[in-house]
Amino acid sequence: MRDQIFNNQSDIADFRFDESVVAVFDDMVKRSVPGYEAMIQMIGLLTRTYGKDNSNYYDLGASTGATTLALALNNKRANVHFVAIDNSRQMVNQCRQNLDDKIDNLEVICSDINDICIENASIVVLNLTLQFIDIDKRADLIRKIYDGLISGGALIISEKVHVDDKNEQARLTELHMDYKRANGYSELEIANKRQSLENVLLTENCETHLKRLSECGFSASTCYFQCLNFASFLSVK
Ligand SMILES: C[S@@+](CC[C@H](N)C(=O)[O-])C[C@H]1O[C@@H](n2cnc3c(N)ncnc32)[C@H](O)[C@@H]1O
Repeated sequence: MRDQIFNNQSDIADFRFDESVVAVFDDMVKRSVPGYEAMIQMIGLLTRTYGKDNSNYYDLGASTGATTLALALNNKRANVHFVAIDNSRQMVNQCRQNLDDKIDNLEVICSDINDICIENASIVVLNLTLQFIDIDKRADLIRKIYDGLISGGALIISEKVHVDDKNEQARLTELHMDYKRANGYSELEIANKRQSLENVLLTENCETHLKRLSECGFSASTCYFQCLNFASFLSVK
């Protein structure tokens, strides 16, 4: 279904992954996030490289399951257990509906990712999810993921990021708005969504992400993809 959520709202509330967003999510994310399809494709490729036999693959903040499906379609290993987690009940229902008949060994869990246990993992993905976690809880989450990864396993993170230079940031923001306009969003929709996400989606710069990853134990992290103000990072244990 086409995303028209912000077309005519006048009283803009904080963004929530509720029933109305679930219904249009797949359209919304493709028309709003430059490089989204490439992000998913790359996660598939990295799964082929870093996935291990007899391990768990986690998709944290799985939404409707696009990333989980890429993990499963690209899995080359034996005895792998897929775990998709989201704290939106409506997202979890949609994820189950999309994936239950496509993936064996799949568990879809409705939970806050801050509360779950990560164990025996060779792949953990936070695709556009960390940005919705309180900034002061992010290090604990990354440390928990590090502890739950087996040696040689990978954490893959994609995020909306900002740069500190005001002029460069303004250029990136304008180009992102151009991307949305080119995908059919009106000025009103762009402005309303921006307002709705303002206190909910909290960006950091690439240096902050890389520093945290290092402080949480990852000796090697790389920003392997960036499209405008969206970046993906690979960290290997
Ligand atoms: C932008 S979407 C992620 C997109 C998805 N990973 C993909 O690749 O298509 C962010 C998701 O994170 C979930 N989320 C946000 N905070 C969460 C938390 N604390 N625990 C679990 N899920 C969370 C939201 O419900 C939402 O479905």
